[in-house]
Amino acid sequence: MSDNYIYSAEKVIDELSRKPGFVDTAIKRWEKRDPKCGFGYKGICCRLCSNGPCRITPTQPVGICGATADTIVARNLLRAIAAGTSCYVHHCRNAANTLLSVAEGKSSYTIKDEEKLKKYAKKMGINTNKDIKRIAYEFATRVLNDLSKPYTEKAELVEKLSLPARVSTWKSLNIMPGGVNEEIIAALTKTSTNLNSDPVDMAVHCLRLGIITGIYGLELTCIMQDILLGSPKIASTYSNFGVIDQGYINLATIGGHQQVVSNRILEMASSKEWVKKAQEAGAKGFKIYGVTCVGQDYELRCASDKNSAFGGYVGNNFTQEYILGTGAIDLVFSEFNCTLPGIEPICKEYLVKQICLDDVAKKVGADLYQFQPEKADEYAAITLDEAIKAYKNRRGKVKIDVPTEKTPAMTGFTEDSIKGALGGSWKLLIDLIVKGDIKGVAGVVGCSNMAAKGHGIYGVELTKELIKRDILVLGNGCVGGNLENAGLYGLESIELAGPKLKEVCRKLNIPPVLNIGPCLSIGRIHIIAEEIAEELKVDVPQIPVVASAPQWLEEQALADGTFGVVLGLDLLLGTPPAVTGSNLITELLTSKLKDMVGARFIIEADPILGADAMESSIMERRKLLNI
Ligand code: SF4
Ligand code: FE2
Repeated sequence: MSDNYIYSAEKVIDELSRKPGFVDTAIKRWEKRDPKCGFGYKGICCRLCSNGPCRITPTQPVGICGATADTIVARNLLRAIAAGTSCYVHHCRNAANTLLSVAEGKSSYTIKDEEKLKKYAKKMGINTNKDIKRIAYEFATRVLNDLSKPYTEKAELVEKLSLPARVSTWKSLNIMPGGVNEEIIAALTKTSTNLNSDPVDMAVHCLRLGIITGIYGLELTCIMQDILLGSPKIASTYSNFGVIDQGYINLATIGGHQQVVSNRILEMASSKEWVKKAQEAGAKGFKIYGVTCVGQDYELRCASDKNSAFGGYVGNNFTQEYILGTGAIDLVFSEFNCTLPGIEPICKEYLVKQICLDDVAKKVGADLYQFQPEKADEYAAITLDEAIKAYKNRRGKVKIDVPTEKTPAMTGFTEDSIKGALGGSWKLLIDLIVKGDIKGVAGVVGCSNMAAKGHGIYGVELTKELIKRDILVLGNGCVGGNLENAGLYGLESIELAGPKLKEVCRKLNIPPVLNIGPCLSIGRIHIIAEEIAEELKVDVPQIPVVASAPQWLEEQALADGTFGVVLGLDLLLGTPPAVTGSNLITELLTSKLKDMVGARFIIEADPILGADAMESSIMERRKLLNI
């Protein structure tokens, strides 16, 4: 643990971990774990058939079937990316169906950002001189049509929503995706036993899935959530364990990204009618605390609303067991990913009610209310009723002991609000970049893991190093949770920035690390990068914008990381994906992709050297712009 963070999120976790009798957690299990399997780590283990599992060794360079290390690695990678893309598309489908339910008058959602709906409807070629619900209908229908097309037909919206220069590169590489669902099915089919054995063909399929993840899973989903839930505004807030207030009926949203029903729960919990019910039970009202990405999205959208029942963002994916272990939470609800099975015994021990709102994320011991936008109000009411019951049942029986550390942060930064703060266009940012006051922009995004130097260490060290070098950082996701609890999303972090960036941040009254919310906001980085490239009349690989998923964790991160690179952003990873057993695939990802799409994966275990690599990439790009 570094002792020079402004605030120490890791200190709270360390102290709780050392507390005698405190619950078991992923971080504790990580410390006790046996050494990693070297074959799995390199991606050269295959268990696709009953003659296996096979592993590649110097004396057994191919599997029983004859599959080489390159084939096995490519097959494993494509399967993993297909699963990650599938998760993103699941969310996109549910968001589009929710928009459709509004258009058809079948749910209680409304269109909260009409301007955004019209802006992107126009880009999609929809005539916007008509009733807003009709526009929403056509928007949702076009998204859903692309999902269900055959893979032999090209998905229509990729071209409409991307920079022409990118599209022509993608066309020349034959990676423009076909129908979304079928591209995922084709990936699963070709990676089954004794089907495709061509590592290059499978790697190219990974790139198509990357584009699908970016356009549908990230950008369109982000836009549809803004349309339905309202676009965020810049605000000041607090994070960390100290935001928890024991005077309320306390709910935690532990889950990532999808938040259609979750948002109704928050709105209902903020209503006078339900506050009264909570008061009748002896509490001051309801508070819903954010853990993982839905919490960050709540923070992004709600921190500016003083009447909201949002209680604050507490921490990321690996803090969830600690939060429940404090005893302060009455009910947990989850609508999608990043809910650790490790919370189940803790919920049982601490009498915490568990509710799941989509069967893809069903947990043991949880009640399931299957996702349907039409039933969101009914599910929200059930959830709040259950929270009241859990509150009455638990108080007095369960020991509550919550750390008090609170970290100031700013939130609400999006492609629109950043542009707004800069005077309405990207001109000021571009001028600052041209002058060298801001050397470049770096996304520090995605998950958190323990594998890269321990929980939250790599991402925080990398970010401090980047801002020290006058590089403006856009943070999000669970690594963003580490940045936030360490104080990097707050104005005090201006003092850690390099002299030029410090001046800029002081003038604009913004921190050098802008909190763009959940992982899903990687879609916002796509929009920002393309808008800047468009304004400069160049392609994305020429602009001084790079990214890192320093503590990537899961299949979805592999899918969205692939998108970042295909989009033209060099992408730093603190730990390698399971590909190092194949020279061909490793070489392709870390070098050859540069010639193909203008960007590559950078793998670097040391955050300072990682910052060196990101800075070099930015400097190369500045040269391409002659600045
Ligand atoms: Fe081994 Fe080939 Fe079967 Fe994989 S598919 S387990 S490499 S025999
Ligand atoms: Fe996330």
